[in-house]
Amino acid sequence: MSTTTTAADHVRELYESRPYPSPERDLDVYRDLQRTVDGSPRFFFHMYWPTAAYREDLEVLVAGCGTSQAAKLAIQQPGARVTAIDVSTSSLQCTETLRERYALENLELHELPLERVGELDRTFDLVVSTGVLHHLPDPAAGLSALRGVLDRDGAMFLMVYGRHGRAGIRMLQEYGRRLGIRCDDADLSGLLAVAAELPDDHPARVFTARGNDLSNPTGLADALLHPQECDYDVPELFEWLGSAGLDHARWFHQAPYLPFCGWPSTTPHAARIATLPAPEQYAALELLRGTMITHAFVATRDDRVAPRAIDLDAEGWESVVPVFFNGCRVDQEGLPPEIAGVLRNTAHLEPDLLVPLTVEQAMLYNAMDGTRTIAEIIAASGVDADPVALAQFAREFFRQLAWSDQVMLRRGM
Ligand SMILES: C[S@@+](CC[C@H](N)C(=O)[O-])C[C@H]1O[C@@H](n2cnc3c(N)ncnc32)[C@H](O)[C@@H]1O
Repeated sequence: MSTTTTAADHVRELYESRPYPSPERDLDVYRDLQRTVDGSPRFFFHMYWPTAAYREDLEVLVAGCGTSQAAKLAIQQPGARVTAIDVSTSSLQCTETLRERYALENLELHELPLERVGELDRTFDLVVSTGVLHHLPDPAAGLSALRGVLDRDGAMFLMVYGRHGRAGIRMLQEYGRRLGIRCDDADLSGLLAVAAELPDDHPARVFTARGNDLSNPTGLADALLHPQECDYDVPELFEWLGSAGLDHARWFHQAPYLPFCGWPSTTPHAARIATLPAPEQYAALELLRGTMITHAFVATRDDRVAPRAIDLDAEGWESVVPVFFNGCRVDQEGLPPEIAGVLRNTAHLEPDLLVPLTVEQAMLYNAMDGTRTIAEIIAASGVDADPVALAQFAREFFRQLAWSDQVMLRRGM
């Protein structure tokens, strides 16, 4: 048996004995659209197709679906056909239980390694693969296989481990290896107790602030005792995508990667970073923030014809429609009089990514309804100003909202 086969077997064994994430029984909040899953096309369609009319009937592949992700996507979008693959029989069984419980006719399951996804002999509008590719013995082969089943104008929603934000996790992994910690109940419970006592300034604490994986046995095994994983800094990520014939279209949450948002925007380096090419900006921000434990992003084929993004500097920008980004809210309590509100994306893990609003910006924001163009928003806002100056003011405001993950931009419908 080759080394590659052994590593893949160990990965499958881990997820066979400890399906990830911990199984869920109740998907009502997903069905009722009170909660979403990252990348769900029901909520983020225009992130993938900014110039297309919303449509339900997507072909969606969830590669490495785990226990519930595919069922959540299927329940949120009954008009889509969701195909889920995984190598773990027990994870697929958890998904099957949800499929039966909620009568998800639009969900089909296959026990299949994603490296062999071509055997389905189908192509997909959207390929979702989160937390999977970095566990493959050959992530490049896995990514190429996914690229091979993506429609030319389709999109991928991917999440892989980040390099620098995981420094503390690598320390705990090394600690576990030195002590011979095993993936059994006794060792996991001891490790859980130790993880709970980590001092606040331990580098792994960034991980506990961003999820609960260090506080339950399933998450702990996945994070600290995994038999096979790699991670990516931004330049490696771009290189990896390019080699597979893919382009990086955008980050799922892009504000943390931009010098125009949050605390980096107030530093003497903001303007300097902004002169760099976009991938260099992202690389700089990854180093500056230091806390990106994962990279979640949209990738598209490098021969895609459909536009991947909206350019607010292109002609006709007044006809762009800002659409609310799921998870955003306006805080209005306890603010100084010159601040009319503070926008916050509740999914942001960085507390500095707030957008304070002037009175005029709040008027523009309040005139948004998800269907109005920027020109219509200006007209409905009631802001009294020189029309040319107001148009420029509005353009910069919506650019900032898009950078800050407060809106997605769409056009052409
Ligand atoms: C960390 S879990 C992520 C589950 C799910 N994507 C989510 O985000 O909730 C990784 C999943 O990938 C699956 N997996 C690992 N290697 C795989 C492969 N080669 N092909 C398909 N699935 C794989 C595992 O069985 C496991 O269910």
